[in-house]
Amino acid sequence: MPSRLLEKKTGSTTDLQENLRRLDRLANLGLVAASAAHEIKNGLVAVSTFVELAAQKSDEPEMAELVRRELRRINGLVTQMLRFAAPKPATFAPVLVHELLDHSLRLLEHQMNGQMITLKRDFAATPDTVQGDESQMQQAFMNLLLNAVEAIGNHGELAVTTQSATDLQGRRRLLLHIHDSGPGITAEDLPHLFEPFFTTKQNGTGLGLAISRRVVEEHRGTIEIQSAVGSGTTFTLSLPAE
Ligand SMILES: Nc1ncnc2c1ncn2[C@@H]1O[C@H](COP(=O)(O)OP(=O)(O)OP(=O)(O)O)[C@@H](O)[C@H]1O
Ligand SMILES: [Mg+2]
Repeated sequence: MPSRLLEKKTGSTTDLQENLRRLDRLANLGLVAASAAHEIKNGLVAVSTFVELAAQKSDEPEMAELVRRELRRINGLVTQMLRFAAPKPATFAPVLVHELLDHSLRLLEHQMNGQMITLKRDFAATPDTVQGDESQMQQAFMNLLLNAVEAIGNHGELAVTTQSATDLQGRRRLLLHIHDSGPGITAEDLPHLFEPFFTTKQNGTGLGLAISRRVVEEHRGTIEIQSAVGSGTTFTLSLPAE
């Protein structure tokens, strides 16, 4: 991890040291943080259910939405903490990528409807099985999909497509493209996207992509970005297919 931080071309030594300190602190939180995060997550399920019911009856929709948003944010943060502070060893088994994508998209359906985002879904990979850790893969997918939804804001298009391919050695790969019609990424930001704590969002942790890349690499995959300001962003994952 530190080597990636050292690659950073801009930013002062103090920034770097501060980043490293933050990383250290995070690593030291270790199991304690992970188990605390786990408990918080479990508690949040009950809180969210109650809030949802109360919100439906509430005559203060703005307040209800605010609370919902904060709960989502806390839940996201805790999920990231769990993953980062104490990554569980991956357990590999056959994963049906299309099913997992559909599941992830269902979790975002409500948010996408609210933001009037059109989903284009084209799952063409056959077979769509990869050897992987389903929950880690879901986390990586969710991070990418959430980023896309956040980038689009209101009105726009999210395209999720898969296809089969063969690499130079003749091995089968599954390609997953996640394209959003958001504002795109500046050339200045692009090299820093996968650095832990790099965020341009007010409430972002900047861990989403760092985690996603780690997960993808643990699966012997690659992750690439194509983006330009004004023409949206495409993340492409390539994973070894069965
Ligand atoms: N699809 C996208 N379109 C535009 N910018 C993006 C996109 N995905 C990522 N980014 C940029 O990369 C940064 C880092 O993303 P990352 O997911 O690691 O952190 P985050 O989304 O800011 O916070 P977190 O995921 O922890 O809530 C974002 O803040 C944003 O600037
Ligand atoms: Mg993110």
